[in-house]
Amino acid sequence: MHTLLLQSLFPLLLITSFLSINVELSLSQDDLQYANCSEDINCGGIGGISYPFWGVNRPNYCGLPGFEVKCVDNAPMINMSNINYRILKTNDSAPSVTVARQDYWGTICPTTYVNTSINFSLFNYPSGLTNLTFYYACNTTIPGLQVNLTSQVCSTNNGDIAVLSVPRSLPVDLVALVTRACTYGVIVPVFSTAAQAVEANTTTIQDAVDGGFELGLEINNVQCNSCVESGGKCGLNTTTGGFSCFCLDQAYATVCNATAPGAQGMSVPCHSLINY
Ligand SMILES: *[C@@H]1O[C@H](CO)[C@@H](O)[C@H](O)[C@H]1NC(C)=O
Ligand SMILES: *[C@@H]1O[C@H](CO)[C@@H](O)[C@H](O)[C@H]1NC(C)=O
Ligand SMILES: *[C@@H]1O[C@H](CO)[C@@H](O)[C@H](O)[C@H]1NC(C)=O
Ligand SMILES: *[C@@H]1O[C@H](CO)[C@@H](O)[C@H](O)[C@H]1NC(C)=O
Ligand SMILES: *[C@@H]1O[C@H](CO)[C@@H](O)[C@H](O)[C@H]1NC(C)=O
Ligand SMILES: *[C@@H]1O[C@H](CO)[C@@H](O)[C@H](O)[C@H]1NC(C)=O
Ligand SMILES: *[C@@H]1O[C@H](CO)[C@@H](O)[C@H](O)[C@H]1NC(C)=O
Ligand SMILES: *[C@@H]1O[C@H](CO)[C@@H](O)[C@H](O)[C@H]1NC(C)=O
Ligand SMILES: *[C@@H]1O[C@H](CO)[C@@H](O)[C@H](O)[C@H]1NC(C)=O
Ligand SMILES: *[C@@H]1O[C@H](CO)[C@@H](O)[C@H](O)[C@H]1NC(C)=O
Ligand SMILES: *[C@@H]1O[C@H](CO)[C@@H](O)[C@H](O)[C@H]1NC(C)=O
Repeated sequence: MHTLLLQSLFPLLLITSFLSINVELSLSQDDLQYANCSEDINCGGIGGISYPFWGVNRPNYCGLPGFEVKCVDNAPMINMSNINYRILKTNDSAPSVTVARQDYWGTICPTTYVNTSINFSLFNYPSGLTNLTFYYACNTTIPGLQVNLTSQVCSTNNGDIAVLSVPRSLPVDLVALVTRACTYGVIVPVFSTAAQAVEANTTTIQDAVDGGFELGLEINNVQCNSCVESGGKCGLNTTTGGFSCFCLDQAYATVCNATAPGAQGMSVPCHSLINY
């Protein structure tokens, strides 16, 4: 009797297990993109770094070109024009990222003098920022330079040099004087609130610089929000360079298709089919 039952069940078992293997194989590619892009970048205690950023544990198809993040010495970094910018936080709803120049992290004496230069096809400067200018190798003996500028000394290979920090726009004649007296000028944006605090002497220049500055992201956030609301993960179609919405069942050009078979997860209906 048992033998009879097994004999009649055997072909059915073979077919269903064959089916389930096929289904799982075809699912795995799409599951992989969805699962991998569900992961945020977490580096040095800064988490929640997601689309359009990629790198570390997020494959390139989880973000957009130019938004690569590297975890360097336990801090998340964006490399732009050969300068590393340390990510302090991200705001998905703005969308924006707050960064600080790594070469100015904990010091106003960098080894090379390079202006802050962002890629305007990726980022923009939002309102609420003030350009702070650091002037290096200044001849402080020039008459008329004894103004209310914060001055400090940086030790370099060529001996000590004077630094003038200018936390606001100076009168034109004073700019001309400082430019003549100093060899290098470096522009570093800070939050305007921090610049005001420096002027009011309630914070230090170093803390203002370490507080970083915000950069708006030049991305289509409506597109990504629609994908996320449909249950997908935003990403890149590496073949076309266009947008891709990674869903549980497959990748779509815009949003997930909730009515497509498998969109709610294939494994549950598949296993009930086998049990039947
Ligand atoms: C996606 O994640 C899986 C593990 O979850 C890993 O094996 C695979 O290499 C990842 N794919 C890419 C392209 O990084
Ligand atoms: C700015 O970013 C875009 C997108 O990654 C890239 O194609 C372009 O070369 C970048 N421009 C500069 C000046 O680095
Ligand atoms: C930024 O990237 C360039 C090119 O990949 C590299 O040469 C440079 O060392 C990087 N800069 C930093 C500060 O890591
Ligand atoms: C994120 O950005 C939005 C829009 O600019 C703003 O209203 C919100 O306060 C920001 N959130 C944080 C935590 O800064
Ligand atoms: C930074 O930009 C300012 C204004 O454009 C310029 O005068 C200065 O020479 C630049 N500094 C460097 C180091 O390139
Ligand atoms: C700061 O300087 C940069 C050029 O280095 C400029 O694009 C930006 O608009 C300036 N920001 C402010 C708030 O003046
Ligand atoms: C500094 O300026 C003074 C006055 O203009 C000048 O006599 C002196 O040579 C300058 N020193 C340097 C190192 O340029
Ligand atoms: C320097 O500070 C004094 C007192 O705070 C002020 O009266 C004067 O205008 C300031 N000079 C400049 C050039 O900012
Ligand atoms: C700023 O504060 C420091 C200590 O907090 C004090 O030594 C210094 O005199 C203050 N400077 C001005 C211009 O008020
Ligand atoms: C990329 O776009 C092509 C053409 O529209 C499409 O066939 C393919 O499925 C897309 N791939 C992804 C991963 O979105
Ligand atoms: C969604 O999936 C259903 C079932 O496969 C299909 O009939 C429908 O055309 C799909 N809609 C879109 C917008 O792809």
